[in-house]
Amino acid sequence: MCGIVGYAGWRDAQPILLDCLKRLEYRGYDSAGLAVAGTELQLFKSAGEIAVLEAAMPEMKGSVGIAHTRWATQGKPTTVNAHPLADCSNRLAVAHNGIISNFMGVREELQKNGHNFTSDTDTEVFPHLVEAEFKDDLVKAVQKALEKVDGTYTFAVVCAGCDQVVATRRESPLVVGLGEGENFIASDVTALLKYTNRMIYIQDGEVVSITKDSVKIVDGKGNEVRREPQKITWNLEDAEKGGYPHFMLKEIFEQPDAIHDSLLGRIESVEAEPFFQNEHFSTVKIVACGTSYYAGLVGKYIIEELARIPTTVQISSEYRYSSVSRENPLVVLITQSGETADTLGAAREAKKRGNKTVGIANVIGSAITREVDHTIYTRAGPEIGVAATKTFTTQLIALYLLAMELGTQNRSLTAQAKRSIVGTLRNLPRSVQDVLNQASEIEALAKKYSSARDMFFIGRSINYPIALEGALKTKEIAYIHGEGFPAGELKHGPLALISRDSPIVAIAVKDHTYEKMLGNISEVSARGSPVIAIGFEGDTELPRYVDDAIWIREIPPMFSPVPVIVVLQLWAYYLAKARGCPIDKPKNIAKTVTVE
Ligand code: M6R
Repeated sequence: MCGIVGYAGWRDAQPILLDCLKRLEYRGYDSAGLAVAGTELQLFKSAGEIAVLEAAMPEMKGSVGIAHTRWATQGKPTTVNAHPLADCSNRLAVAHNGIISNFMGVREELQKNGHNFTSDTDTEVFPHLVEAEFKDDLVKAVQKALEKVDGTYTFAVVCAGCDQVVATRRESPLVVGLGEGENFIASDVTALLKYTNRMIYIQDGEVVSITKDSVKIVDGKGNEVRREPQKITWNLEDAEKGGYPHFMLKEIFEQPDAIHDSLLGRIESVEAEPFFQNEHFSTVKIVACGTSYYAGLVGKYIIEELARIPTTVQISSEYRYSSVSRENPLVVLITQSGETADTLGAAREAKKRGNKTVGIANVIGSAITREVDHTIYTRAGPEIGVAATKTFTTQLIALYLLAMELGTQNRSLTAQAKRSIVGTLRNLPRSVQDVLNQASEIEALAKKYSSARDMFFIGRSINYPIALEGALKTKEIAYIHGEGFPAGELKHGPLALISRDSPIVAIAVKDHTYEKMLGNISEVSARGSPVIAIGFEGDTELPRYVDDAIWIREIPPMFSPVPVIVVLQLWAYYLAKARGCPIDKPKNIAKTVTVE
């Protein structure tokens, strides 16, 4: 998965492309490149981050171009494999996001016909295919070339002597930004917000051609498509650091607002609007990856509690291997980006199985929203840090709302219960703000434990998935081996691993699991592990069992995952800071994973 931008306008393309590309670096950062199409093609690429490219690149003259930041899938992250990739005559350049699954056969065929290849990438077949088809119409040549490739892609193509950027997509994101005397394409609206907020989302199979003063879209059959632009309400500030040292910290601190926005207009009336009139679901299946999967695990407890519907949760990439359920479940697909290939694949599989589907997504107009019957948007705003934070807490909000909806429909929720839930939801921004106010205490504690090599996270019931998510944050940001367990499982094996060098983070809020949690904490501290607990303010018992504690304001336990995870996000952030890790761009992972 990679980031692509394209520009055709009245200004020099190079600085604009670089500027936009930097906002896409979260999509991949192992190599980058830029091509400007003047009378000749000027192409410059390098291994490493965009900063490396910027420092080394010569000035390029011309007002039409494309740029790319890469997360390698086929071929090592080297300069030759960086995009854009050119044809034999160095006249055409192509940037690609996705995978061409049949590239081997296509490449052999092209080589037989005399085309020279210089990289190990699947992408390189595309400039050669376009070259073979190109006479005087770049759009037609791209359409012809598309007939020969299978897989997933966004392609952006420029050609020396042409005043246009041609782009197309299949199962990878592509948006057009409309300016005054200039137009843009990008993988993500956040890349373009500095220049425009008028966007057109390109659909699968469409080919778009932008010049400085025109945007033409044709569908897979060559028919012209007219589509009104959407006005994006996110502003540039939303996509910049705003004084914070990292996007992750900014996004953690944005959570009170993100939660508030996600509730806005949705809880004013306790009579919720049904997504599926007169539909009754006897089971729910939640499907997602990574952090979104852990949100789904929390969702299981919420839905079973509020709607009394048995719920299972599955990793997206495993969903297709599961047996078809006789019960015809409601399938809920959670994905912040809305572009995760595994989750999109699962959505299609659910449709094939004849299930009704709900998507929980953050990015408006993203691919998942076209695959599902209904979308609940999380309204978290753009999330740039690779670690999901505000999108996780707002996914939990969406799950509370969904559970209320289902509970209303099947009458397992009384009006009084709903009123009380709404009251608690309204207070969540304040609970989160209380946690944020303790950031410096959490930082001091994280510093104390930052040299640990292993760290275990334990919780029970609805806070068990929060232990898993805390461990994931610690792994991906602080590079500490973090593992989450249901606290009751330690004695079935993991206790063998613990020692005084492996701190235990225990979620021990006062709920129906509290006494058992104290027992589990005793088991680990008796074996020498330091314990850091997260508990409710006013708990006088917990300090007797643990070495350190972080306190959150008491709320109904079913809602405690929200403030607790904010503690663990700050915990992981400050561990990473103390260890000098590249927080917004952890090694080997990218924000949006558009390969299976
Ligand atoms: O965009 P999605 O929610 O579908 O992404 C799923 C995972 O790739 C994502 O949550 C990942 O685990 C995060 N980087 C974790 O912080």
